[in-house]
Amino acid sequence: FAPSGVSGSGWASFRHHCLQQAAMLPRIDQHATGSAMHRSLTILGIESSCDDTAAAVVRDTDVLSSIVYGQTSLHAQFGGVVPEIAARAHAEKLDHCIEEALTAANLTLADLDGIAVTAGPGLIGGVLSGVMCAKGLAAATGLPLVGVNHLAGHALTPRLTDQLAYPYLMLLVSGGHCQFLIVKAHDRFQRIGGTIDDAPGEAFDKTARLLGLPQPGGPSVERAARTGDAKRFALPRPLLNQPGCDMSFSGLKTAILRARDGVVVEKSGLTPQDQADLSASFQAAIADVLIEKTRRALDAYLQMQPAKPAFAIAGGVAANGAIRNGLSTLCAVLDTNFVAPPLELCTDNAAMIAYAGLERMRAGESDDLTLSARPRWPLDQSAAPMLGSGKKGAKA
Ligand code: KG4
Ligand code: ZN
Repeated sequence: FAPSGVSGSGWASFRHHCLQQAAMLPRIDQHATGSAMHRSLTILGIESSCDDTAAAVVRDTDVLSSIVYGQTSLHAQFGGVVPEIAARAHAEKLDHCIEEALTAANLTLADLDGIAVTAGPGLIGGVLSGVMCAKGLAAATGLPLVGVNHLAGHALTPRLTDQLAYPYLMLLVSGGHCQFLIVKAHDRFQRIGGTIDDAPGEAFDKTARLLGLPQPGGPSVERAARTGDAKRFALPRPLLNQPGCDMSFSGLKTAILRARDGVVVEKSGLTPQDQADLSASFQAAIADVLIEKTRRALDAYLQMQPAKPAFAIAGGVAANGAIRNGLSTLCAVLDTNFVAPPLELCTDNAAMIAYAGLERMRAGESDDLTLSARPRWPLDQSAAPMLGSGKKGAKA
């Protein structure tokens, strides 16, 4: 964990602080969500579904603060996120993170209109930490509690950053998800394709491990790829020869493993240039697949939505420059508005959760203290589960 920089004696003092502030708050009925449709709303967002502990304050479409504590160093020696360690770390840091977000926004709990929290999908211990924390705050302050689907947070980010109007086509691509969605309303999503096995972020992370590059893998593979030759290794472009916009990335992970082993056998190790060439070849394969499948998804979408079509990306892998540039060029050719949120709002953050909660409140929705944490929570409930959905695929 990065040092919090916040002195505090944990939950006891935080709870006391909340109760003091709660005494000064208007009564709950003045916060009734029904009146939230038109006035300005200030929402605290809380995110703890994977390995980032995050809190943020959003007022309408302004991000007043966004604090993210990564857990990379805590999980580094295990080669992946350990759910129990993640959950404990969330529980330890959430209160500091929230205090910091309020301080950075120059606000107190009394200035808020609601508390939005990721209620799934994700690692259940982490989601529970956030949901319990949000419930405690809501109970103490009387503020409305709004449970948010983490994927909806990513999918609605282009509305926070660019005020993009519904409907739009979105590629949500991260460590646990990869899907094309038509976003029709804050609670209406149509999935028109997605990965049938791994997510690209998972493949980036695995590739980094295979090449001896640090985690998270995406940024380090991208960095190494800058000086690499993308043509040196001929890696497959899975499912490209099949119609539709479903994708597969597990074979690519195996292919990069074989390519690496080939070099290691030949030279008894990897030079930095080998690492760069393998990274560049891998990144090019992922980018080619995502760009071609996006072209097909856009074709399908343009049939349905010929006027002013818009395409947006979100999720951690959307921070990748090569992928962003390729998609931006594709959209320019197809005369489609391309929206790519800033990098810090593509990766996990709580501003997107606050904003998705704000949209729910504007629609007159909120939850009560029975809100439950959900490990799985597909956005498009009517879509059939993806083939081969495994430990992460089922979330999508
Ligand atoms: O959205 P996110 O922060 O968390 C999930 O909900 O999964 O995405 C994290 C994933 C990680 O797998 C990370 O390696 C990947 O996004 N990522 C990237 C880049 N930055 C983060 N992948 C490729 N290029 C990047 N620049
Ligand atoms: Zn995410």
